[in-house]
Amino acid sequence: MSEKILVLGSSGQIGTDLVETLRNNYGADNVIASDLRQPSAERLAQGPFETLNALDAKAAFDIIKKHKVSQVYHLVAMLSATAEKMPLKGWDLNMQSLFNFLEMAREKHFKKMYWPSSIAAFGPNTPRDNTPQLTVMDPGTVYGISKLAGELWCEYYFKKYGVDTRGLRYPGLISYKTEPGGGTTDYAVDIFHKAAKDQDYTCYLGADSSLPMMYMPDAIKATIGIMEAPAEQVKIRTSYNVGAFSFNPEELAASIRKEKPNFKMDYNIDSRNEIAKGWPSSIDDSVAREHWNWQPEFSLEAMVKDMLKNLS
Ligand code: SER
Repeated sequence: MSEKILVLGSSGQIGTDLVETLRNNYGADNVIASDLRQPSAERLAQGPFETLNALDAKAAFDIIKKHKVSQVYHLVAMLSATAEKMPLKGWDLNMQSLFNFLEMAREKHFKKMYWPSSIAAFGPNTPRDNTPQLTVMDPGTVYGISKLAGELWCEYYFKKYGVDTRGLRYPGLISYKTEPGGGTTDYAVDIFHKAAKDQDYTCYLGADSSLPMMYMPDAIKATIGIMEAPAEQVKIRTSYNVGAFSFNPEELAASIRKEKPNFKMDYNIDSRNEIAKGWPSSIDDSVAREHWNWQPEFSLEAMVKDMLKNLS
């Protein structure tokens, strides 16, 4: 039987790129995009779309049945900086939307679910350099707490009910098609929008705030890679560390200057810097490499060149 794939949060930063790649791989009609917001007319014409609030369990159930969905990529979440401003709302969205779909999977209405975690699931007592797969996790943000709890719930549903849950701990993600919203790592996208227009950038993280990052094509490769891996290779059902490169704002600006020598950056540090300080600065993803052959392709330099080319 051919797969029918539902992507929740299809208009978001990851969803936009993921839907495009899945449609190329599985056929446009087999990938149902869904989001709170309708996409542009151009994107609407590219394949099926359903308006959905992932908190509405009944509406979600109807869409699963209508399209005979077999796999779900659940990309609905309130990101770290926004959730700090509305903690209970962030918790409710991130957790309730997860449970709505875990429950439908438990009742066997679909087979397989992807749910993303993040470097935000780590915390200030986690070893920051080369953060291992298995280590102290004491997240200090609502978003991070929801990601750690969600990881554990995904594993619980796998062990207890046999639900095929799979997940990755994304680093900060960099892309040009859709901007992120409300994250701590957003600066690494914003900076390119300025640099491409030959404008200066004011950075809200400190010069030495180093974070793991990844270019979107690699994030999509990892996401589809873990979903397509044979089940027996996916030995970890919380979430896998995945990494590509790490940099701080100074290092990113220096890379951009190799392409745009006149690019200037100054600093106006805000509360997001405190969030970043509690996150890893680099990631050990050897377990993902070993279990299901994860391997990133883009270096920092290649990413910078590609971002500037596409935004210019
Ligand atoms: N990029 C996200 C954020 O900054 C972390 O997963 O909130």
